[in-house]
Amino acid sequence: MKNIDAVGHVRGESIYVDDIPVRVGTLFALAYCSSSAHARINRVDYSKAEEAEGIHRIITHKDIPGENQIGGIILDEPLLAVDEIHFWGQPIAIILAESEYLARQARKLIEIDVEELHVITNPREARKQNKLIHPPRTFSIGDVDNTFNKCAHIFEGRADSNGQEHLYIETQGAYAYPGENDKLFIVSSTQGPTAVQRTAARVLSVPMHQIEVDVTRLGGGFGGKEDQATSFAVMVALASKITKRPVKYVVHRMDDMKMTGKRHPYSSDYKIGLSEDYKILAYEATFHQNAGAAADLSPAVLERTLFHATNAYFIPNVKVTAYSCKTNLPPNTAFRGFGGPQGMFVIESAIQHAARSLGVKKRTIQHINLLDNGNEFPYGQVVDQCQAKTSWNESNEKFNIEKLEFGVLKFNAENKLYKKGIACMPICFGISFTNTMMNNARALVHVYQDGSVGISTGGVEMGQGLNTKMVQVTAEAFNISAKRVKIETTNTTRIANTSPSAASATSDLNGKALQKAIRSIMTRLLLVARQELGVEYHQLDFKNEHIFIDGEKSDLHWEQLISIAHQQRVNLSEHAHYATPIIHFDKSKEKGHPFAYHVYGNSITTVTVDCLRGIYEIDDVKIVHDFGKSMNMDVDLGQIEGGLVQGIGWMTMEELAYGDDGRLLSNALSTYKIPDIYSVPKTIDVKPLKTDGHDLAILKSKAVGEPPLMYGIGAYFAIQNAVLAFNPNANLVFDAPFTPEKVLLALYGE
Ligand code: MTE
Ligand code: HPA
Ligand code: MOS
Repeated sequence: MKNIDAVGHVRGESIYVDDIPVRVGTLFALAYCSSSAHARINRVDYSKAEEAEGIHRIITHKDIPGENQIGGIILDEPLLAVDEIHFWGQPIAIILAESEYLARQARKLIEIDVEELHVITNPREARKQNKLIHPPRTFSIGDVDNTFNKCAHIFEGRADSNGQEHLYIETQGAYAYPGENDKLFIVSSTQGPTAVQRTAARVLSVPMHQIEVDVTRLGGGFGGKEDQATSFAVMVALASKITKRPVKYVVHRMDDMKMTGKRHPYSSDYKIGLSEDYKILAYEATFHQNAGAAADLSPAVLERTLFHATNAYFIPNVKVTAYSCKTNLPPNTAFRGFGGPQGMFVIESAIQHAARSLGVKKRTIQHINLLDNGNEFPYGQVVDQCQAKTSWNESNEKFNIEKLEFGVLKFNAENKLYKKGIACMPICFGISFTNTMMNNARALVHVYQDGSVGISTGGVEMGQGLNTKMVQVTAEAFNISAKRVKIETTNTTRIANTSPSAASATSDLNGKALQKAIRSIMTRLLLVARQELGVEYHQLDFKNEHIFIDGEKSDLHWEQLISIAHQQRVNLSEHAHYATPIIHFDKSKEKGHPFAYHVYGNSITTVTVDCLRGIYEIDDVKIVHDFGKSMNMDVDLGQIEGGLVQGIGWMTMEELAYGDDGRLLSNALSTYKIPDIYSVPKTIDVKPLKTDGHDLAILKSKAVGEPPLMYGIGAYFAIQNAVLAFNPNANLVFDAPFTPEKVLLALYGE
């Protein structure tokens, strides 16, 4: 099935927040933000701005009727600063004007007097000063200390990875307007409609039922709108509540880049111990997560780093500890992979370190240590339906890794100033929210009298193809044409208490709820058919929009069946709830079975480095990926390609830069480079691994949103291998992104 949004997107007809026709009386909101990263506010003077043309009013923390609090996991973040500023870009006030332009003009007139305080941007410094979001957490299995004594080879080092700007095409934004009896409608570009509703209710001091949040789709979220869409939605809600007028806020790109948190930078230490025959016997790591100035989702992201610290490898003795360090950056947040990629980069760095020092191929060590059924993860879950070795073997065979390596060697022997490098990147990613409680969803299905079907779920379409998949699930479950099915917006009045669309689990959770609702309706319809046709229940079947009796097609068609059921006063609607079975996790022991299943795969990346300039090209990426049984290969391939390129961007060229004063320097597309058509791999070849799929995956089609991002990590090591081909004495540092500047330094350094 084609993506149901394709035509609308190409024609520019799809609706985003900024496309909603503006209501009469709308005010335009604009945040006034701090220009210090850490300071005490002595005084803010709004008087000139308040008198400026077109200014309706300026809202500060004093105007908040409820709690000035937007923290999701920990209540540590004000909506509007009170007397201290904790990051550059922190909202202090909301300007309401007759136009966005006038709001911008007035913003320049606000005067602030602050006392600057010491700014921390480095997570290691924060840890030294004991500035932590919460106490550190440790996952462990076996006995690392005693095992290191028995290891033939031990390597220690440090690995750093930088943050990443989400750069969703649609910036943050929301539109709120009042209804009768204090009702408030909020249209928001959010992955978490319920988070918006819950937080708006808290800040406005109203019950959640007063607030209806509606989401049509997002022009990308990538985790950046899991939590951080909330503040903007709450700003317009607050303004609308106070002024009783519609209020709209669509954030300017540079404000968005400045104000919002990003992927967490991590600074980590590792120690890896191997046996004589390269078995990894012990692994120890300490992660310093740069959380920024408030918790946001950092505790959950930190947890996923620990869960993915050993990637696709079985290591019998592991001890990994993670610190969530409080700094003066904007609160960092969810980003595709949710801490997993940061953990995986460290183990891959440790293996690369070992391989280089021992003079063996990295892939030899990777291969020997791949996970298998029956192995135990450090968090207690036992591996089953493992596809680590199958995807590795299949990628090596299908793409003939030896031949690829030989090609690289041959090229390098023949070329002096260009060198190629190749690297394998196996992945293993756990599917489920790490917080067990969040793994549930609901769906609402209406069959209308004419046989058309309307469905609602708690899932948000953000470009990942969720809506297409939900229509497919419905057509499949009813056995009717997808043309009869319409998917509605995501709305908190229709579907309550939703988890955000995240953790790659949206189609599994919401799809399974849909199937349950449809099964109930279908059972009632078959009872109607039995009565109508005077046959036994077991003789009946419904396929291709027709009732079948003993396998023979009858004349009773979908539309007639619905019409009869309606005449007989049968309920043609259903609301259903799904909660993932099996999963559990005990935080007091850090053990359990947190994931419904894992997604596996392997990528082989080849790059060419220009050794005169330090620039490079990604030649090709060859992937064998475990889709389960893909329910929509076009959509899923789109996710692989997009995720891969996003991962390559994070590892190679996207360089976030903050000044020592905590100001974002890479605050526009001229200074923050993301992969364009020239920097994506010249070819991407994806082969699906043949498997039976997984029962907890929707239609056995495994979650695909986040896992492919981590294939991009292979690019880092492929470039490093090319550098080593040019300069065998290069000093290996693990400090992503591997920008051309760093490549050049490595090419000519020791
Ligand atoms: N793909 C597109 N086009 N746009 C997005 O914003 N978000 C990613 C991934 N793929 C995203 C995307 C992230 S971070 C997640 S968690 C999943 O999609 C969320 O959707 P899913 O649960 O339906 O996979
Ligand atoms: N993934 C994404 N978002 C989340 C998670 C997770 O595991 N836990 C809480 N929010
Ligand atoms: Mo995705 S980072 O779980 O929104």
